[in-house]
Amino acid sequence: MKKILITGSAGFIGVNSAIHFANNSWQVIALDNLSRPGAEDNLNWLNQQAKVEFIKADIRDSDSIERIVKTHQPDVLLHLAAQVAVTTSVVNPREDFQINALGTFNLLEAIRQHQSDCFFINASTNKVYGKMEDCAVVETEQHYTYKDINGVSENRELDFHSPYGCSKGAADQYCIDYARIFNLKTVNLRQSCIYGQRQLGVEDQGWVAWFTIASLFGKPITIYGNGKQVRDILHVDDLIRCYELCIEKSDYISGQAFNIGGGPENTLSLLELLDMLRQKTAVEPNLSWSDWRPGDQPIFICELDKAKQHLGWQPQINVDQGVSKLIDWVKQHRELFNWL
Ligand SMILES: NC(=O)c1ccc[n+]([C@@H]2O[C@H](COP(=O)([O-])OP(=O)(O)OC[C@H]3O[C@@H](n4cnc5c(N)ncnc54)[C@H](O)[C@@H]3O)[C@@H](O)[C@H]2O)c1
Repeated sequence: MKKILITGSAGFIGVNSAIHFANNSWQVIALDNLSRPGAEDNLNWLNQQAKVEFIKADIRDSDSIERIVKTHQPDVLLHLAAQVAVTTSVVNPREDFQINALGTFNLLEAIRQHQSDCFFINASTNKVYGKMEDCAVVETEQHYTYKDINGVSENRELDFHSPYGCSKGAADQYCIDYARIFNLKTVNLRQSCIYGQRQLGVEDQGWVAWFTIASLFGKPITIYGNGKQVRDILHVDDLIRCYELCIEKSDYISGQAFNIGGGPENTLSLLELLDMLRQKTAVEPNLSWSDWRPGDQPIFICELDKAKQHLGWQPQINVDQGVSKLIDWVKQHRELFNWL
C-alpha cells in the first residue's frame, strides 16, 4: 500500500484530501498542529470517515519533521499546512514567514535527507503573480474582465506581493530549485480560490464559503470595494483529482509549476455570487459596504492550458453545480456554525 503524508490535514483542503486518499487504498499519515479554528472538528470528522494515522506536529519544528519523514518514509508528501490569510501575514509577518517559507523548507530538507524518492506536491498560490497592474481591465455592470487576455499563464513574471505572497512565493521557488539542484521530485500547484465542503470560511479567507455561510445564517457581509472583483473558483473535488493526476505523472512533471483554478469558464464576481445565493436560497444577504482593502486585486483568472496539456486535467464541476453543493453542505451541517 502506498503512503501519503498530508500536512495541514485538519484544514479544509487537507481533510477532504485525507478522506479521499484513505478511501482509495492509500495509507494516510495526517499531520497538523491544529492551530486553525475548527481544525479539531475537522479532525474528529476525518477520524469518523476514514482510517488515518494522525500526528500532531508543527512544520516549523525541523527535528520533529525529520523524525516523522524518516520513520514513515512516505511515497508522496502533499504539503497543505500554511498560514493562509494575507491579512494575518501583514499583522504578523515573522510568523507567516516561519510557517510558510521555513516550514516548507523543513519538509524539503527532510525528504532530501531521508526519503529522496518522495514526490512532493506543494500547494502554492496565484498570489505569486502579484497585482499585475499592467494587465488592462474593463469594468462592466456586474464584474471586471481582462481587456487583452483570457487568463494568466505560468509564463507570467513572478511578483510577490504582501508577506503572504513573499512567504508562499519563497516556498514555491524552493520547490522548483530542489528539483533542479537536488533532483527531488516536486511540483507546485499555484491554486486560485478553492471552495467546497468543510471550508470554514471567514471574512478574510475563503470568501465563497463565507458569503454562503453568512447568507444562510443572516450574518453581516462586508463588501470591500464595489463588489465587481472577479476570481476563478475551483471546487475542492476537482483539485483533489488534480493531485491524483500529478501523482500518476510525477516522473514527467517534476520541477514544474501549474496554475490550477476554475479557469476562464468558472469565474465569479462578489456581486454575481450574491445574486446566485439570493436565487438558490431565497434569502436576502445582510450587506454593508467599505473601502477597498490595500492590495485587493480587481481580477484574477488563471489560464489552464498547461495543466490540460501536461496533466490531462480540467475542472468538471461548474460554478452553478459547485455553489449548490456548498449550500447543501452548509444547510446539512448547521451545528458547525454555532459559533457565528
Ligand atoms: N483555500 C484556498 O482557496 C487556497 C488558495 C490558494 C492556495 N491555498 C493553499 O492551500 C493550502 C491549504 O489551504 P486550506 O484552505 O486548506 O487552509 P486551512 O487553513 O483550512 O488549512 C491549513 C491547515 O494547516 C494547519 N497549520 C497551520 N500552521 C501549521 C503549522 N505550523 N504546522 C502544522 N500545521 C499547520 C492548520 O491548523 C490548518 O488545519 C495552503 O497552503 C494554502 O496556502 C489555498
